[in-house]
Amino acid sequence: MEYFVIKGGNELSGEIEVSGMKNAAVGVIFACLLTEEKCVLENIPDISDVRTSFSILKAMGAKVRYLDRTTVEIDCKNAVGGCAPFEMVRNMRASYYLAGAELGRFGQTHVGCPGGCDFGIRPIDQHIKGFEALGAKVSVEGGYIEGKAENGRLHGASIYFDRVSVGATINVLIAAALADGNTVIENAAREPHVVDLANFLNSCGAKITGAGTDVIKVKGVTSLSGCTYDIIPDMIEAGTYMIAAAATNSTLKINNVIPKHLESISAKLEEMGVTVEEHDDFVVVTAAKKLTKTNIRTQPYPGFPTDMNPQMCTLLCLAEGVSYLTESVWDSRFRYIEELRKMGAEIRVDGKTAVIEGNTRFAAAPIRAVDLRAGAAMIIAGLCAVGKTTVEDIHHIKRGYDDIVGKLRSVGADIKEVNIPEVATYGK
Ligand code: EPU
Repeated sequence: MEYFVIKGGNELSGEIEVSGMKNAAVGVIFACLLTEEKCVLENIPDISDVRTSFSILKAMGAKVRYLDRTTVEIDCKNAVGGCAPFEMVRNMRASYYLAGAELGRFGQTHVGCPGGCDFGIRPIDQHIKGFEALGAKVSVEGGYIEGKAENGRLHGASIYFDRVSVGATINVLIAAALADGNTVIENAAREPHVVDLANFLNSCGAKITGAGTDVIKVKGVTSLSGCTYDIIPDMIEAGTYMIAAAATNSTLKINNVIPKHLESISAKLEEMGVTVEEHDDFVVVTAAKKLTKTNIRTQPYPGFPTDMNPQMCTLLCLAEGVSYLTESVWDSRFRYIEELRKMGAEIRVDGKTAVIEGNTRFAAAPIRAVDLRAGAAMIIAGLCAVGKTTVEDIHHIKRGYDDIVGKLRSVGADIKEVNIPEVATYGK
């Protein structure tokens, strides 16, 4: 059993280095399958979703070698499709990118359905719609995604997504890079990690234009080469530390960020009275004397990110007045509110909107990380609370935050991880 223990109340000060972006890294790692040449990926975060991705590739016959703590060489020359271990694939969401990568490289795929955070139903119909438009016959049976391209190779197509999906956009980009002919994706996601994935593929010789807009064009090429590629910084990790500063009455310098990616977060913090100073590749966040309420609706990029919903809800608990936080991406993202209530939060959920009373003084309590970003929010609440908070189920947090304990301790937080070995039972 492992959990975090936080003694709240410390003001934080100093600098935090943001790691590479989880949701870009996992796409790029599986996209390495498209080339038989070696790829060197820099700024790779040390998180369990990345380690699981490497384990999956290795189980498929790829070679993965760390060159230093954040740089990894991936060689998929001898990788074999269709054999990704089900248990590993079920551990993470982004394993669905294997389907696009296998279809692109081998013309067929057999991969377990993905896992990841539980936000209610997480359909993959748009991924399948895209693969089918590219000429694959796809079915989902017995917990597996099965797909086969006619004549063993995908062909270009025009695809209009019925809703904006980061995963479907990235998956179809991966699949279309090596397809015969041209592909046009309309109503594409515009997230920075979509752009990063396209930039990686282009560095390998793909011909992709328009990433970052809602129309992306791909001219299929016959093969891709290896490359050296630097993953962008994680805007959600950065946003989490920005909110940690705002919640603990602190000033933090947050390094290795792209301020443009943080605009929606910075804008909301400033509305609440927080000061955000933007520089080329860092921001300095200074807490407000008094936090004021605001209303937020999560939206696809460039809107306010759903992956900042729980952290922002925690901050809104501390503001003066009633705030409204509406979730418009996921059906069921408010499970963490029950945990915040244990710490004294007064929040009512009305359909897709959380109505947050404000002026909360968090009290320490034993709480759970119900998912990855919820876990980050629990840490923020624990940092503000009087007394000793314990956060359980921290495996969720470790999926996406590189050394969160070390980073927070380095700026003065009193947080530690406790590991209690499983108690041996009689006869074992
Ligand atoms: N959707 C469909 N059909 C599909 C795909 C998506 O209806 O085929 C719906 C979803 O149910 C959801 C919406 O479209 O309501 C958006 O889903 P999207 O496909 O954009 O999400 P995703 O690709 O599965 C990624 C991130 C999530 C993040 C969302 C939204 C990865 C590995 N995951 O998920 O990140 O919340 O985009 O930005 O990139 C996290 O990092 O904590 C996390 C959950």
